[in-house]
Amino acid sequence: METNRNVTLNYKEGEEALELPVLKGTLGPDVVDIRSFGKTGMFTFDPGFLATASCESKITFIDGDLGQLYYRGYPIEQLAEESDFLETCYLLLNGELPTAEQKADFDRKVLRHNMLHDQILTVFKGFRRDAHPMAVMVGVVGALSAFYHDSLDISDAHHREVSAHRLIAKIPNIAAQAYRYNKGLPFSYPKNGLSYAENFLHMMFSTPCEEYKVNPVLARALDRIFILHADHEQNASTSTVRLAGSSGANPFACIAAGIACLWGPSHGGANEAVLKMLDEIGSVENVAEFMQGVKDKRYKLMGFGHRVYKNMDPRAAIMKQTCDEVLNELGLHNDPKFKLAMELEKIALSDPYFIERKLYPNVDFYSGIVLSAIGIPVSMFTPIFALARTVGWISHWAEMIADPAMKIGRPRQLYTGSPRRDYVATDKR
Ligand code: CMC
Repeated sequence: METNRNVTLNYKEGEEALELPVLKGTLGPDVVDIRSFGKTGMFTFDPGFLATASCESKITFIDGDLGQLYYRGYPIEQLAEESDFLETCYLLLNGELPTAEQKADFDRKVLRHNMLHDQILTVFKGFRRDAHPMAVMVGVVGALSAFYHDSLDISDAHHREVSAHRLIAKIPNIAAQAYRYNKGLPFSYPKNGLSYAENFLHMMFSTPCEEYKVNPVLARALDRIFILHADHEQNASTSTVRLAGSSGANPFACIAAGIACLWGPSHGGANEAVLKMLDEIGSVENVAEFMQGVKDKRYKLMGFGHRVYKNMDPRAAIMKQTCDEVLNELGLHNDPKFKLAMELEKIALSDPYFIERKLYPNVDFYSGIVLSAIGIPVSMFTPIFALARTVGWISHWAEMIADPAMKIGRPRQLYTGSPRRDYVATDKR
């Protein structure tokens, strides 16, 4: 990993230059190792981590310029086409694709541990019915640490594995019950024999009154959404999980922190924001006026742009195809919202404002349309993202905890507040 190259830093006259080693990853740009920079008595300053790798990782690789995304080296297009979500989970967690036997064992473990401790249902009941499902998810996932004490020893590899499996198994149930509680529907239970995505649809939409039949095209589309959102290297929520975990906090608490971060509209809240934006625009005639507002920087075009992808988001192309499949299956191709979205896309892709800034549709531009067509309410879009990303979060957490060189994350700062001053009594201010 170390190259024989250094970056030489002449930081002060009369002081010996500092040699900073250049590291090489398997893929991606070289990285300057600045760990010895502290010797200079200075810090580096990089708000938003625009030029800083916060950790070493073997899980996911993104090439933002070429628009490539690999999980453990496998291109996302191949996984979306040929794998299923649980196989992708196994891959992210363990580093290799499973054999048939390993896959069957993993499926059994996850699909048979999807029930919630019955008392967790009373945790849901502590929330107002109109609470946003993400607020409920943050609370209930955090509360898991109060229920599963037997897997909280983070120094024990078996405990870490059990917690990872529990989280992946139970998160769809938590998301579905957050929705049902909000709707006033009775809590539902998972059904063994259904796939991960089928089970989620079943838990969301079944009623005690009649049999719920899962549409295989919709289940496949949802499975693909799960695969596409499963990991995305050191994004804001994953970095949050790592930072929370670096203090030794338990995995359920760390994932709750990740869910809280994901909630923001610049991150996981974007697919919800896309649908709200389409509602606000209303119809194709209003697109030009809306676009002028974007260019005047009064608001952003949601579902466009990405910190890393500056060419295209490879997940967006797959999601667009899935969008086509779902709308065809449901006979919704003439849906006004879909037409409006296509018009926005067309204008944005040909407008110099977006071209110059390399703003392309991201995965969330299409995933919101697919979820909406499946019948999933807008408030559930981000919980579904959280459901899918749980495997990525827990894989990164496990990778970090297993690293003997792990240190608590503790960034420094450039202080620009008041210099030292003396306290002034109230009557003298
Ligand atoms: N609409 C209009 N202008 C935009 C947009 C947008 N969606 N995104 C960026 N810009 C402009 C921005 O105003 C800036 O213009 P200028 O150079 O004139 O100041 C330029 O493009 C560069 O933008 P930036 O804010 O420096 O880019 P960033 O890397 O900090 O932000 C982003 C990335 C995703 C937060 C941003 O593009 C955004 O807010 N997009 C909309 C929200 C969205 O769709 N988020 C989902 C991301 S994909 C899901 C995930 O992986 O989490």
